[in-house]
Amino acid sequence: MIIAIDGPAGAGKSTVARRVADELGVDYLDTGAMYRAATFGVLAREIDPADAHAVIKVCGQLELDVGVDRVVVDGVDATSAIRGPKVTSAVSSVAANPQVRSILVELQRAWVRNRGAGVVEGRDITTVVLPDADLKLFVTASPRVRAERRVAESGGDVDAVEASIAERDRRDETREASPLSISSEAVVIDTSEMSIDDVVADILLRVQG
Ligand code: DC
Repeated sequence: MIIAIDGPAGAGKSTVARRVADELGVDYLDTGAMYRAATFGVLAREIDPADAHAVIKVCGQLELDVGVDRVVVDGVDATSAIRGPKVTSAVSSVAANPQVRSILVELQRAWVRNRGAGVVEGRDITTVVLPDADLKLFVTASPRVRAERRVAESGGDVDAVEASIAERDRRDETREASPLSISSEAVVIDTSEMSIDDVVADILLRVQG
């Protein structure tokens, strides 16, 4: 079974996707980590993330190894750095590059082909990468709740975090290449008032169909 999960930043999709994959005994792919890994590679080579041509060239050369617990870029362990502020502020512009997207989408489809089953999570999985997935989900929560969760995890000011989440949503939703949007075939799960356990249980029920 192939499960595709999309949704905005901070809606809890990674945690949920990972738990669902564990419960089903299948692999999990975090495609956001792939865009982050590519961005790490671009910054490591001192390329301006806004320089589309240079970014495409670098992305075609990068060796990306995106595992569940470890991300390696050109032999360098980038697991922590891909979550850091430098990568986080540059990733939207790398992810907006259509050629970068086609390179990564191809890797994502190959990942699925090689396994025949799995949980794949991102922004365009239900709409572009795997529109024929067996189960398509859009996991979301209000910007306020997403900000509160992020602050509980890593500190900061809720208002400021909410503003930056709203700004990242806006960039992800309005970019030309594969903007974040809800597939008409996706089941929408609003996790604002749900625990992670509730969301996982809800998805497992849908898997059993
Ligand atoms: O889920 P995340 O915050 O780790 O995603 C990082 C960035 O990558 C975010 O700006 C959205 C983008 N992204 C994307 O454009 N397409 C995907 N399939 C996954 C992530």
